[in-house]
Amino acid sequence: MNTSAKPSKSNVLDRVLVLEMVRVTEAAAVAASALIGRGDEKAADAAAVEAMRKAFDELDIDGTVVIGEGERDEAPMLYIGEKVGGAPDGGPKIDIALDPLEGTTITAKAGPNALAVLAAAEQGCLLNAPDTYMDKLAVGPGYPEGVISLEKSVSENVAAVAEAKGVAPKDIIVCVLDRPRHADIIAELRSLGCGVVLIGDGDVAGVIATTDPDTTIDMYMGQGGAPEGVLAAAALRCVGGQFNGRLVFRNEDEKARARKWGIEDLDRIYKLEDLASGDCIFAATGVTSGSLLDGVKRLRGGVMTTDSVVMRASSGTVRWIKGEHRV
Ligand code: FBP
Repeated sequence: MNTSAKPSKSNVLDRVLVLEMVRVTEAAAVAASALIGRGDEKAADAAAVEAMRKAFDELDIDGTVVIGEGERDEAPMLYIGEKVGGAPDGGPKIDIALDPLEGTTITAKAGPNALAVLAAAEQGCLLNAPDTYMDKLAVGPGYPEGVISLEKSVSENVAAVAEAKGVAPKDIIVCVLDRPRHADIIAELRSLGCGVVLIGDGDVAGVIATTDPDTTIDMYMGQGGAPEGVLAAAALRCVGGQFNGRLVFRNEDEKARARKWGIEDLDRIYKLEDLASGDCIFAATGVTSGSLLDGVKRLRGGVMTTDSVVMRASSGTVRWIKGEHRV
């Protein structure tokens, strides 16, 4: 079990596989898109899961889900430890973190930024994050290493980023999940005069937004799912940026879950390389339109369009892929 992602040993993520990963997120996004705005979170998630599971079988990989839909007794498909891929004997051994529908509520309500998303890496390179919350702090590329730290206060982090950017703290824009648990963070940011972009859901897109100047978001702060933290970290490994994550436990059961996955230091602050190391791939397809990608559009005559991105850490290449699909 992996408690700290290990460095890359060999290059099993060949170039073809990088592009193939998009087929998997496209399949999940297209399936989920039939349920946009239908008020049924479970049905949307189930459609995405089933389509993603099927699409993996088309890939010549010996894949293992390390972050998925839950533990085996909780999830019928894409559970942690499930083998996926069409080449279980002899294909490249790849660990996969996935979220077939990141933003189930968003999809049900036709809100922005729902994604089908996955990260793939060589065996042992993705943290087996338990399904708990994680304190997250992120900035995009171009800042001195260590500019942000979960050991510093909200004000200290904003001051450090503002100084490095050459602006006043009030000019810093921070993205935060709109939750009562973030009331203190939001109050402190407002007392500094910062812009606060409150999002209803979808912190993978929220973290990645720090890497895109068009969003004007400088920082991401707050608690969200730990599995989503690993997915976002994989993306930041590819495009640059800094991330601090610390698991948050609400009860003893959650601590026991973490220990089960081999995590001993429950207070550890994880940085990018601790969450996703070696060569890794991040792929996402928009389900609903948002800051990162356009959503699936269902056009006349059974034509659907998709908007995806796939990135690779070793090369830093980012590919934006528009798809047109006919039923
Ligand atoms: P789901 O797709 O599982 O609904 O997750 C959406 C999400 O907003 C994540 O992006 C985020 O990490 C998490 O939920 C936050 O959890 P909570 O809704 O409990 O605050």
